[in-house]
Order: sequence, then C-alpha cells, then structure tokens
Amino acid sequence: MPLKNDILLALETNRGAAVSGQKLAGDFGVSRNAVWKAIKALQGEGYQIEAATRSGYRLADDCDLLSAPGIRAYLLPRYRDLAVFVHPELDSTNNEAKRLLAQGFTGQGLILAESQQAGRGRLGRSFFSPRGSGVYMSLILRPGAATESILPLTTMAAVAVTEAIKQLCGLRPEIKWVNDVYLQGKKICGILTEAESGLEAGIVSSVIVGIGINVHHNDFPPQLTKIAGALNCRGLRRNQLIADVANRLLDLAANPGDHSYLESYRRHSLVLGRDITYQERGEEISARAIAIDELGGLEIELADGSRRVLRSGEISLRLAPR
Ligand code: BTN
Repeated sequence: MPLKNDILLALETNRGAAVSGQKLAGDFGVSRNAVWKAIKALQGEGYQIEAATRSGYRLADDCDLLSAPGIRAYLLPRYRDLAVFVHPELDSTNNEAKRLLAQGFTGQGLILAESQQAGRGRLGRSFFSPRGSGVYMSLILRPGAATESILPLTTMAAVAVTEAIKQLCGLRPEIKWVNDVYLQGKKICGILTEAESGLEAGIVSSVIVGIGINVHHNDFPPQLTKIAGALNCRGLRRNQLIADVANRLLDLAANPGDHSYLESYRRHSLVLGRDITYQERGEEISARAIAIDELGGLEIELADGSRRVLRSGEISLRLAPR
C-alpha cells in the first residue's frame, strides 16, 4: 500500500485524535519528511488534515471524502482484505462491477463512486447520483449457488442498509417491499441486484448488489422532491456507512441458511397490514399485505379472500391511514 494510503488509514482509525509525525514515521519505517510530503499530497486531494506542531496530524471531523483506506478502517477484521475500488466518477458502479468481472476479476469486491453519470434503478429507471452527497456502491458477491439463492440477497441488502442506518444515525428506516428503504415517508435508498451466470446452467457465478443511499441531499430535481428523502444525519461519515452496510451484507450472504434476518425485515416493514396495489397484465389489483414468507416473498390477500405470494415486481401503497 502506498505511504499515503497507510497514513490515511492510520488517521481514519484514530479519528478525533492527533497522530504524531514521529509515530507515523516509526510505524511505516519512513522519515518524518516523507510523512509530511504524504500529508501534503493528501491535503492536495481534498482531505482536511489539521497539522499541529506539538500533537501531530488529525483528520478533520467533518471530512467526508470517500477513500479505500477510510472504508477499510471500518471493515470487520474478517473483511479487511476485501478489494475496494473508489472512483471520483463513474457511469454506474454496477456497470463498473460488470466490467471488472468481464476483465477476469475473481474475488468479492466493493466498487464506489463519488458521483454517477448514469446511475441505474430498477425497471429501467435512472438513479439521481450527484457528487459527494450520496453513497453509490456495488458489492460483488459469490454465492456460488443455484439461481433461486440470489433472491434473498436483495432482501438481505435492505436489512443491512436499515440496520446500519439505525445503528449509526439512531433513525428508524422502514422497508417497502421488496427493497426500497424509506424514512418518514420518503425513499432514501434503492437497491438493484444483477446476476452473472456461470457456465453451468442454473448456477450464478457472481451477483452485483448495487445500493444507492441519499445521505446529504437537499436539492433534488423537482420530479423527486415529493418522493425522495435523505438521511441528513449530522456527523455521519459515508466511509463508515459503506463499511457497515458491507460488513452486514457479507455476513448475511455468508450464511444463506440462517433466515433470522427476515425477522428484522418484517419488523421494519412499511407494508405489512396495509392496503396495496400492484399491476398484473396491465390491470391494477388491490390487496392487503399479510406476511413476508421465508424466501422474502410478500403474501397478500385479495378482495375475494384468496391469498397468493408475490416474488418480484413493484407494489404501491394505498393512501388509506394505517
Ligand atoms: C432503484 O431504486 O430502483 C434502485 C436504485 C439502485 C441505485 C444504485 S446506486 C449504485 C448502483 N449503481 C447503479 O447504477 N445503480 C445502483
């Protein structure tokens, strides 16, 4: 790892405290002058690093730039070797993940961008991705299993995001089936899961879970102001949020037989017990959301009392009060 990254990791790990130039030089086996040069380079890249002659170097509390060392500082020890790619700008982090896979990337990995020019949502929609104010991340996972087993990954991702936000911000987000996360009635996160199939029929070689979270937006375009919201959580660092979501999702994906995450999904559901509508062959159907089954499907009850399970698609909430 270049010295700059080592130093950034050390400063991020010691957020709030100063680390002396002497300690950094000693830890990395370089001169204090080399440390000073690396600090200057980081400052040139936009990192707010305060330097005090007596105490040393300190990363400013409100510095919220994305960086691989900044994310790694918050990854659990078992994931510290995860490949992390941070880009100032991309068309789409999911597209970049696909390009990496096409080039022969074989592990699990995390791709991030400060902004996306062509952020993609479900059903061919776009995802508003301005610079510096959101989290645009794609996690490449290797479920190494049958096609059906990728379905829960989207549900797991919604739980990972919800739990991370709750833990770091003390907020209570809700999940709108299947995978949108809402806060106070507005969408703050969308998830787009895409699978790459292997040579063996029915086996998924890798899955890309793309997650977009509105962190500090206040200026949505007019068509989004009524439906989109943001965390606006003071002191939250995107590096920490990204790592926390990744830690949780990697843990859940590593234990696909453990369905206990569905309890969290149900507890945070925005739709259970509510009247909903959905489209079927061009017709709008009304129903009541009854339960989430063991595969994350939505069990609904139709007007005639019959029940069925929705496995994918999109529902709308009817505006009647709960
Ligand atoms: C949706 O709301 O329909 C899903 C939105 C998913 C957006 C994320 S942002 C990171 C990743 N890259 C993309 O192009 N899309 C996903």
